Amino acid sequence: MEFLRVRQEEAVGIIELYRPKVLNALNIPLMGELVSELERMERDDTIRAIVLTGNERAFAAGADIQEMAEEDAISMLVKDQFAQWDRMNQITKPIIAAVSGYVLGGGCELMMHCDLIVASETTQIGQPEINLGVMPGAGGTQRLTKLIGKIRAMEMLLTGEPISATEALHFGLVNRVVPVEFYLSEAIDLAHNIAAKPPVAARMIKKSVQIAQDTTLAEGLSYERNAFYLLFASADQKEGMKAFMEKRPADFKGK
Ligand code: HXC
Repeated sequence: MEFLRVRQEEAVGIIELYRPKVLNALNIPLMGELVSELERMERDDTIRAIVLTGNERAFAAGADIQEMAEEDAISMLVKDQFAQWDRMNQITKPIIAAVSGYVLGGGCELMMHCDLIVASETTQIGQPEINLGVMPGAGGTQRLTKLIGKIRAMEMLLTGEPISATEALHFGLVNRVVPVEFYLSEAIDLAHNIAAKPPVAARMIKKSVQIAQDTTLAEGLSYERNAFYLLFASADQKEGMKAFMEKRPADFKGK
């Protein structure tokens, strides 16, 4: 892989975006590698949670402007780059973003495709597309509005100005803000914590929360109820409840 560095720590898969010279600008080949690697980790039973990170200076400064500059509407439509992004939504394992520095444009949209977010104190999050004469195309107007509300999203999207890590925490856009030297280790610790949970339940919870973002309360409650019932078919439910009653730690098998 040209644009990623990948490693595994026990049950945690770690993907680092690696185009440091251009602040991890997300060109189409990078996104192709990223989605293929996420899909490989999805199939790998030894991985139960995934950390997605960049480097201290930039998680990603957006889609690759050089790659887009000469495109026209039809070439963009035919390329259909967002089909790759859509595949990311099919990953059922929890994805924890570890972000620092620039998280701009497509970088912010990529971060919002993740399930939990640990940010360094130096993080700046923004959707500056308006300054380029365009707008977000990978969910920025939709996901940001759902996550932080219309008024805050409008300001970020219409001014293009980034917000600080502290503001992002206050807005509920990130889970934690930590000193820059700890953001990756904190995200990996969080991933280990989640990887120790029963994976079938984690998968159902992730899906159920995604549905909460996309549908009505009644439909979401119906999905949740069926998923709850279904978990009583898992060995991990029997083990989890038995371990509680026997006052011992549970040994979850993902069955
Ligand atoms: C291509 C980029 C880039 C980008 C930075 N670079 N961002 N190349 N696409 N998005 C390159 C620069 O050209 C430069 O290359 C190198 O990275 C270092 O960047 P500098 O600008 O020299 O660094 P600095 O002065 O520190 O400024 C950092 C910055 C600025 C504030 C982040 O680079 C910037 O404004 N970048 C663009 C941010 C942006 O507009 N993102 C939204 C993109 S549109 P050289 O070769 O000169 O060293 C988008 C649409 C999403 O994301 C649609 C869905 C996918």
